[in-house]
Amino acid sequence: MYLLGYDIGSSFVKASVIEAETGKLVAAASAPSAEMPMIAHQPGWAEQEPAMWWENAKAATRQLGQKINLKDVKAIGISYQMHGLVVLDKNRQVLRPSIIWCDSRAVGIGEAAFARIGKEKALSHLLNSPGNFTASKLCWVQQNEPELYAKIDKFMLPGDYLAFCLTGEVCTTASGLSEGILWDFQEEQPARLVLDTYGISPELLPAVVPTFAPQGGVSATVAAALGLTAATPVAYRAGDQPNNAFSLNVLQPGEIAATAGTSGVVYGITDRRDYDPASRVNSFLHVNHAPAAPRYGTLLCVNGTGILNSWLRKNTASGLGYEQMNQLAASAPVGSDGLVTLPFGNGAERVLENRQPGASVLNLNFNNHTQAHLLRSAQEGIVFALNYGVDVMKTLGVQPKTVRAGDANMFLSPLFGEAFATITGATVELYNTDGAQGAARAAGVGAGLYKDTSEAFRSLTTTRVIEPNAALRDAYEQAYVKWLGCLERML
Ligand code: XUL
Repeated sequence: MYLLGYDIGSSFVKASVIEAETGKLVAAASAPSAEMPMIAHQPGWAEQEPAMWWENAKAATRQLGQKINLKDVKAIGISYQMHGLVVLDKNRQVLRPSIIWCDSRAVGIGEAAFARIGKEKALSHLLNSPGNFTASKLCWVQQNEPELYAKIDKFMLPGDYLAFCLTGEVCTTASGLSEGILWDFQEEQPARLVLDTYGISPELLPAVVPTFAPQGGVSATVAAALGLTAATPVAYRAGDQPNNAFSLNVLQPGEIAATAGTSGVVYGITDRRDYDPASRVNSFLHVNHAPAAPRYGTLLCVNGTGILNSWLRKNTASGLGYEQMNQLAASAPVGSDGLVTLPFGNGAERVLENRQPGASVLNLNFNNHTQAHLLRSAQEGIVFALNYGVDVMKTLGVQPKTVRAGDANMFLSPLFGEAFATITGATVELYNTDGAQGAARAAGVGAGLYKDTSEAFRSLTTTRVIEPNAALRDAYEQAYVKWLGCLERML
């Protein structure tokens, strides 16, 4: 019996199949072969075609079909890039490219709405400013593309769209609505407050289904085209960060998950309905939230993380693979001999109160610095940016003692893991899992094939544990102070 999980990232669509009984990965695939493009018609904008996600999901599924019999898949789970906007007309046609998570065009709209609603009211009901999230993006369409807006029948998140392509059902989740700042945490229902402020009709909202539950069955046409069994349930969907936490069995207050893919995130669970007054870190409904046992995810996001490393690879390190880049980076000393990188080149950074300083490399000395320094300073800059957000999270009572992450992306770099553990003071536990595998396990829970989450995680084991390096602590702290000084200058 198999479980299939999809993860629609910004760069790739990944698909994994695990065997339900053993929890073992039996097949994995990813498409396309090189990173998916982001369309940026103006600085700070970022769009992707939903059809591109679906084409790549199909391509990844076909790759899986060459390895295993997909007829044995009993449930499907979906993880997706968060906060994006997909709009459909009444014939279920996509009306425009998706405005994705790192697109900054709606920052001003969110700020104005925050002022109109009033800070106290917004934060106590929404735990966030409407900010640059999905509701504000939809309002941008309303203001700037009124003719197109008039044709919208339903709007949704990227994962809702993939579920729609598989099943034909248009629905979303409460956790998903919280991502778009469309959830009222006090009233435990969609936020009329935001809809009314923006003049968005509640009719445009899709039906709300539970995160873990059969949410629709694969249509006969799609099943025939992909080799799946018709009516196989899509039984779970969640934004990639809550899903990453789920994948690492981070479900209870005090537990923390991290990722460092295109963007980097630290995500801690709490049962306190708390918020950062400056919305530098954001609170969402976690996947296992229930009014009687509340679970909120406090999320700090740095947009420019792995995307900086991949930019360096494409533009300055041609010919080198990531592993060689990591080795070269590790050959430079802690602090990169004073070279400082600010990694903020992928849209407005919430942790910097939605400012857009862009990325910069400072203190470059043509006589001292080499490619190794440049690569190391990029990795350190990413770690310091995450630590800057961890410092904000600490003010909300989140104490990072142990942080769990997938043994992937930037955490594959030993220097990155050690720098992160040392500067945050947390033990980093790495696991051999990823969002697509987590979504597959979650689908097993949602379809009732596992009796609970502990059964779903029976086979999850750590691959590596990285302790803070006491001998390097002072050097990293000095480098962090220098980095903070540069950040202040740039802001
Ligand atoms: C999280 C965030 C990004 C997206 C990327 O709040 O904005 O990490 O999840 O898909």
